[in-house]
Amino acid sequence: MATKLAALVVLAAFLAGPAACDGASICFNGWLRLPTYNAALCRPRPDVQTRQRRPAPSGSGLSSGYYNTRCPSAEKIVTDAVKKAVDANPGIGAGLIRLFFHDCFVRGCDGSVLLNTTNSKNSDTEREGPPNQNSLRGFEVIDEAKAAIEAACPDTVSCADIVAYAARDASYFLSDRKINIQMPGGRYDGRESFSNETDQLPGPFSNLTALQGSFAAKGLTSDEMVTLSGAHTIGRARCLFFSTRFSEMEPAFAAKLRAQCNGNDGTNVNQDDVTPNVLDKQYYQNVVDKKVLFTSDAVLNSTKTITQVTENANMTGAWERKFEKAMETMGKIGVKTIGNQQGAEIRKVCWRVNN
Ligand code: HEM
Repeated sequence: MATKLAALVVLAAFLAGPAACDGASICFNGWLRLPTYNAALCRPRPDVQTRQRRPAPSGSGLSSGYYNTRCPSAEKIVTDAVKKAVDANPGIGAGLIRLFFHDCFVRGCDGSVLLNTTNSKNSDTEREGPPNQNSLRGFEVIDEAKAAIEAACPDTVSCADIVAYAARDASYFLSDRKINIQMPGGRYDGRESFSNETDQLPGPFSNLTALQGSFAAKGLTSDEMVTLSGAHTIGRARCLFFSTRFSEMEPAFAAKLRAQCNGNDGTNVNQDDVTPNVLDKQYYQNVVDKKVLFTSDAVLNSTKTITQVTENANMTGAWERKFEKAMETMGKIGVKTIGNQQGAEIRKVCWRVNN
């Protein structure tokens, strides 16, 4: 009940949007701008304050080709489903890459982001959290792949692995086959998911310290944070996350966005104005040119991170290789690899726990 109430408060504040929140305290780990400090939502997270990095995720128990003998058709089924979806709409590929990030940062890569019902019988799951609600997309691709895989080999392939393979394949197709992630398998699915835990995801109003802190809390470095932010070279974003900072952007870019948003905070725009559907290093040139949307993008243009930004912008192939490694590392966060000993399972349907 308490969790439900907290979720409602978060949601109400979120829906109030930045217009009501100008002023403003940055809360819920950079997802909310609130007019006044709200102790329930604005509590600083200890790991953000200290910026002590946890050990890099080991991914112990994962291996590549994990399903080669267990379910030989599994990876191909995922690849085919992703190819079909990306061909029809590249934005769904962007959604799948983000789904993987949002899964791994909350309770580890355990498919908890997919759940509508849980072991605790709560309905305020991660999907309802401020970063995810009315925003995440690509669920139907996961469900389609899962249904085909269950028909071929029941109770064998986890939803968490399907999300990881789908992010790998979306990265491949959206990069014109230049990004080839070695994604191991062997994750089990979790049985819990809570909306308030989505405050572990860094938000668009985050400053550099908060971004570094959020990644450090998951065992990722500042370099990996800069590398993974390059995913903002695809997909879309709503105006509510950047309409307070037009004056900080390159004027022509700001004018174009202002016209697109037209005062409506729910409008979606492309994140990368130059190559919106290609997973490439263009993002880093955009950071330099002040043609990025969020505070969290713009702060990479700071003394601490600018060397990496310019290297990524200028060196052919360098960012692509780093992105492959960083996605692989992200896929190792908090994985459950010994099944029921960790209260985990292989779900039959990705959006609900097995009874
Ligand atoms: C560094 C901190 C990050 C912040 C603050 C952040 C924030 C955001 C926000 C606010 C949106 C727009 C959501 C909306 O308007 O509905 C977005 C979109 C997106 N983000 Fe991030 N993000 C971060 C890191 C990442 C990472 C690490 C990845 C993947 C590796 C990623 C991939 C994406 C993609 C692909 C989209 C577009 C999704 C779509 O079109 O459906 N982001 N992000």
